[in-house]
Amino acid sequence: MTPLPIVPVKFGGSIITDKGGDKGISRGRIRAVAKAVAAARGAASASLVVILGGGSIGHRSAVAYGLAGGVPALDRLHRMARSMFLLKCTLARALERAGVPAMPFHEGSLLLAEGDGARLQPLAIRRAVEIGVVPILSGGPVYAASGAMVAFNSDRLGHALLASGGFTLERFILVSDAPGVIGLDGTVIPILTADRLADVADIPLGAGVTDVSGGMIEKVAIASDLARRGVDCVICGVDALAPPLFADIVAGRGRHGTLVPASN
Ligand SMILES: Nc1ncnc2c1ncn2[C@@H]1O[C@H](COP(=O)(O)OP(=O)(O)O)[C@@H](O)[C@H]1O
Ligand SMILES: [Mg+2]
Repeated sequence: MTPLPIVPVKFGGSIITDKGGDKGISRGRIRAVAKAVAAARGAASASLVVILGGGSIGHRSAVAYGLAGGVPALDRLHRMARSMFLLKCTLARALERAGVPAMPFHEGSLLLAEGDGARLQPLAIRRAVEIGVVPILSGGPVYAASGAMVAFNSDRLGHALLASGGFTLERFILVSDAPGVIGLDGTVIPILTADRLADVADIPLGAGVTDVSGGMIEKVAIASDLARRGVDCVICGVDALAPPLFADIVAGRGRHGTLVPASN
């Protein structure tokens, strides 16, 4: 299998759901994401693969159904899978309106969690890309190689796509509610190399925000790992969704947010 070049873009639950409140999906943001994806689609030489974070939907369910520690309520996890699928369908509908064919994938049928990562079955995603359909992926409740089910963090899908052997990653883009990785001096770190990891501030999440994914510190660890595997990672904020800017980020032009550069 010749790996297919892709640009996976992960839109955080922090921007597409009401992470601190209980309003669920933020439809305005889903529309903004669809417009950005539609405008950026032709910008990169590789195809876009969209990844959505679960935000308030995923994190609350993970706590309620015992995926965040405790014993998973195996009889109720279908509810979380349904919410995650509906989130992806909402984006697919918004992309349809923007003239872009897109299809949601169910995380539990695609991934098997193993250690910190997951085995991913690449064939159907590859076919979607080949026929011009934008795949919409997410984390959520997935079976684990050892144990029952776990909440798989969407941020880790970049690594799972690469490790599947089905793809090369032209770059990996993470969009969240922070403008980039903020350093100890309170400003965004433009280029984050391994020797600057100690400069990353650990900023607490806002009051009332449920998060089982580890926030920015986890993203930095994931981006650093991918950088060591030869993939440039961009961690940026919601201002990046403005169509001309987002197309530039997808194509690797200019600089925005934090770049974690490939180190080999
Ligand atoms: N050094 C940092 N720079 C930026 N954000 C940080 C940092 N440390 C912690 N954070 C927190 O991480 C959050 C983003 O992570 P997260 O909430 O998991 O986003 P997402 O839902 O997009 O995955 C920010 O809102 C911020 O509160
Ligand atoms: Mg997160």
